[in-house]
Amino acid sequence: MLTASLVLIAALFAAGNVAAKSTKEISPYPLGERSVFSDRAIEDRIKPVGSVCVEGEECGTAAPAGEEVASGPRSGDAVYNASCAACHATGAAGAPKTGDKAAWAPRIAQGNATLVKHAIDGLNAMPPKGMCMTCSDDEIKAAVEYMVSESK
Ligand code: HEC
Repeated sequence: MLTASLVLIAALFAAGNVAAKSTKEISPYPLGERSVFSDRAIEDRIKPVGSVCVEGEECGTAAPAGEEVASGPRSGDAVYNASCAACHATGAAGAPKTGDKAAWAPRIAQGNATLVKHAIDGLNAMPPKGMCMTCSDDEIKAAVEYMVSESK
């Protein structure tokens, strides 16, 4: 009888010990944030693996270096400077130089539609889209219009 009560007391004691565990020992998170379905746990799972740190700035606030996100079509002179000037500013590969009125007069006489078509499809040593494969047709058209306006 005595042994039985001792065992019972010991068992109660042990049970009490578990219940007495502070919640901090079970999980470092407050009650609402413990579940694997909590916002805290979900954010933890999907957060980026790394963050970019720039000296003098708080970690993770700097945007990672990368291609700038295009915000709408580029202007004619921007496309020209990036993709066309290499040949058309210097006359490389026999390209008609921008501003060379004599070289451009007979080309301009073909009409804008033809010039734009040749710029998009290519013409002899003129590569399609001036090799700007990310340029839209409208951006190429704007670049042609810029070149033409500079060469009249
Ligand atoms: C690799 C050099 C090169 C690059 C880059 C280049 N061009 Fe040209 N372009 C040429 C050459 C060469 C010609 C002359 C082709 C011919 O008449 O045989 C030409 C001709 C043209 C013509 C005249 C076409 C015609 O019908 O007479 C236009 C318009 C033109 N280029 C627009 C552009 C534009 C716009 C870009 C940039 C998006 C560009 N080019 C980039 C070499 C280049």
